[in-house]
Amino acid sequence: MSKVIVIVGAQWGDEGKGKIVDLLAERFEIVARYQGGHNAGHSVQVGDRSFVLHLLPSGIIHEGKSCVLGNGMVIDPKAFFEEADRLAEQGIHVTPERVKVSSRAHLILPYHRALDHTSEERLGNERVGTTLRGIGPAYEDKAGRRGIRVADALDSEVLRSRIEWNLADANRVIEAYGGQALDAAQVFDEIAPLTERLAPFIADTSHFLNRAARDNRSILIEGAQAALLDVDHGTYPFVTSSSTTAGGASAGTGLAPQRITGVLGIVRTYTTRVGEGPFPTEMLGGEAELGQLIRERGREYGASTGRPRRCGWFDAFATRYAAEINGFSSVALTKLDVLDALDEIKVCTGYRLDGKVIETFPAVSAELRRIEPLYETLPGWKTSTVGTTNMSDLPANARSYVEFLSQVVGVEIGLVSTGPERDQTLICRDSALGGWLAD
Ligand code: IMP
Repeated sequence: MSKVIVIVGAQWGDEGKGKIVDLLAERFEIVARYQGGHNAGHSVQVGDRSFVLHLLPSGIIHEGKSCVLGNGMVIDPKAFFEEADRLAEQGIHVTPERVKVSSRAHLILPYHRALDHTSEERLGNERVGTTLRGIGPAYEDKAGRRGIRVADALDSEVLRSRIEWNLADANRVIEAYGGQALDAAQVFDEIAPLTERLAPFIADTSHFLNRAARDNRSILIEGAQAALLDVDHGTYPFVTSSSTTAGGASAGTGLAPQRITGVLGIVRTYTTRVGEGPFPTEMLGGEAELGQLIRERGREYGASTGRPRRCGWFDAFATRYAAEINGFSSVALTKLDVLDALDEIKVCTGYRLDGKVIETFPAVSAELRRIEPLYETLPGWKTSTVGTTNMSDLPANARSYVEFLSQVVGVEIGLVSTGPERDQTLICRDSALGGWLAD
């Protein structure tokens, strides 16, 4: 059976998926994305070169790998070519031979960006803190059956009339909230040359992927954002608008569910969140300074928007929930070295709500805001773990921390990342994924 592995962030994003996907891409023939758009920001460090990817799968950095932008994605053609051109300057060529864009993916158009701004302004204090890239409004159009798909845009008359039709409505909302109406002819003139340039990349990617799986080719499916930002399972309404969890990988690629052979969760040794929304283990008040230390040590600033990320302790309760809904076969634990400077490390192992210990992750954001995290405190190790590649070379307290996390989340830890470079990685065990990590 071909190996088809889904990689999913287990928290609120920025767990370090870029590095892990890049590391594993070598062992796969195809790397595909299934949801989201250029709201993602995956940083990959290769020697002294650093790459930031928003729309393209991280596999693009590896010569010879095929990359797929699946049907579940929303694609801003301008962002696609900006990224392709930037990569070309770094010697990486985004060609139709290597990159396939699903004909069924939806387009993000300039009015989606304008509507994203309007929607956030309308929400005021209740705003989601989106990346303002037009992601939510593009998915709204998709669900509302008025979206423009990549394939639709190939016919310029269809493209023109759909832009006119959709913009008539969008402008009413934009203007009602004091925004500047967009001109349909201008939007068409901006988009049409880009979709024409996109034409050679367009393919029936569902067929491509299923055929590849049938032919025993290996596929890595790369999630963007993370489990707690999933539109169904995340901390709604403070979520993104797509199905980020492993279940979304089948819908968002067209790969039949039984083709998927494993799910790797990416878990960071602490938690961050960018944008608004509840965050039970956030370091606030007396711990704000510690949060700042972690932000600096972990370079926790958004790769897409540059926003400082909110930092907090490891939340095993939330991660257990993520492990359950994604069915993690194994976990990659990232950024262990960031905790090297701490005297003590807290881990949230349970939630108390209104005086009662609860068993399941709350569905309501207002409840999550009232959560009292139940912590266990572990000793720090105060020694550098940067670049450690063997479990036996880790300080004893760091080893205990890793083992403790595995135990409280209930999933084995397959690898630990001890720095941003590919080789700053420690492989622990990969039995659950069929032994492919250590190949
Ligand atoms: P949107 O995806 O731009 O609609 O933003 C919705 C929420 O998801 C906001 O809280 C964003 O900060 C968050 N978000 C979107 N993309 C990412 C990401 O790649 N990493 C972390 N958070 C993200």
